[in-house]
Amino acid sequence: MVRRLGISLDEELVARFDRRIEARGYENRSEAIRDLIRNALVEEAWRGGASGDRVAVVTLVYDHDSHALAQRLTHVQHEHFGAVVASLHVHLDEHNCLEVLILRGRGDEILRMGEALVATRGVKHGRVVPATTGKEVV
Ligand code: NI
Ligand code: NI
Repeated sequence: MVRRLGISLDEELVARFDRRIEARGYENRSEAIRDLIRNALVEEAWRGGASGDRVAVVTLVYDHDSHALAQRLTHVQHEHFGAVVASLHVHLDEHNCLEVLILRGRGDEILRMGEALVATRGVKHGRVVPATTGKEVV
């Protein structure tokens, strides 16, 4: 069941929105607006009760020449092995590694784990991206 909505928006806001969705490759405004709403719902779900079943994606870029760092990152993952659903390791060049982890579990736990990994000294770049199990969005 689909409902059509009429939305009143400031002209300048529409112009900016159109430029943004064109740059991002959306075919129409509806899909772009649906994504904005879904993002808001996922964010809300994380905010609302981080204790539920959640999924997050963590990216880490680091220099593997630091053995202590590589060991530390692996250690944290083994400590929380139940939360690491999948991991991908790419050797970017002679020194740099990219690791992508999919975490699933209690929101507060996987968030803390992801943030601890990102905050580990020597990690050059890291992000924790809250995703969704798909249940809280349509
Ligand atoms: Ni291992
Ligand atoms: Ni590597």
